[in-house]
Amino acid sequence: MTIYNDQVSSYISSLFAIEDEHLLRAREDSPKRGLPTINIKPEEGRFLQLLVRTCGAKKVVEIGTLGGYSGIWIARGLLPGGVLYTVDLDSNHAEVAQEHFEAAGLSEVIQIRIGDAHRELVELTDRSPFDFVFIDAEKTGYPAYFDWALQNVRLGGIIAAHNAFRKGSVALAGKDDDYSELMRQFNKQVAEDERLISTIYPAGDGTLIAVKIA
Ligand SMILES: C[S@@+](CC[C@H](N)C(=O)[O-])C[C@H]1O[C@@H](n2cnc3c(N)ncnc32)[C@H](O)[C@@H]1O
Repeated sequence: MTIYNDQVSSYISSLFAIEDEHLLRAREDSPKRGLPTINIKPEEGRFLQLLVRTCGAKKVVEIGTLGGYSGIWIARGLLPGGVLYTVDLDSNHAEVAQEHFEAAGLSEVIQIRIGDAHRELVELTDRSPFDFVFIDAEKTGYPAYFDWALQNVRLGGIIAAHNAFRKGSVALAGKDDDYSELMRQFNKQVAEDERLISTIYPAGDGTLIAVKIA
């Protein structure tokens, strides 16, 4: 019997993913500032934070900043002296996120890079290897972002990619949208890659997680 549902999700969040005023502000203020409500959920944020700390991360890249909600969770998992580079092509999103990072006391820890991630990642390459990469931008970019992450994450480092379920459509017949097949192929490619130990964390819209072992 599978019992994971919205009530169980709320139960986990109420115990393990309690938002302080800064996380709450980043989540609630962003839509009021015209940003889309497409941030990760609290328990997904807590899970990313746990992964970041588990791999002892000091250098992290996030692709898709939005209003900074996931960035705050991730940055709070870094070891002291760590840095999060977060990339977004929308300067309005970046401006809102910067305010949230400053309010949370994280402006020294998080560096926002404004621009298309396909270009920004090339520029970040000379700061590799990274300990952790979180992919949460346009779905058509996932294969290229993942390839870059695999080349630029150290052994034992972790790559996470959001929306692995594509609203459930990867597994549910008749629910396909434009990106369902792309995400199915992406999940399959990662699952079959012998350089990785990988799985999908099934909260929210699913987060694909992969540890680099070779
Ligand atoms: C799903 S949102 C990120 C949500 C954020 N990670 C959170 O949970 O709080 C996706 C973001 O990716 C950005 N984006 C889309 N395509 C991009 C690209 N090619 N390069 C950089 N950012 C991109 C969008 O502007 C948007 O802010």
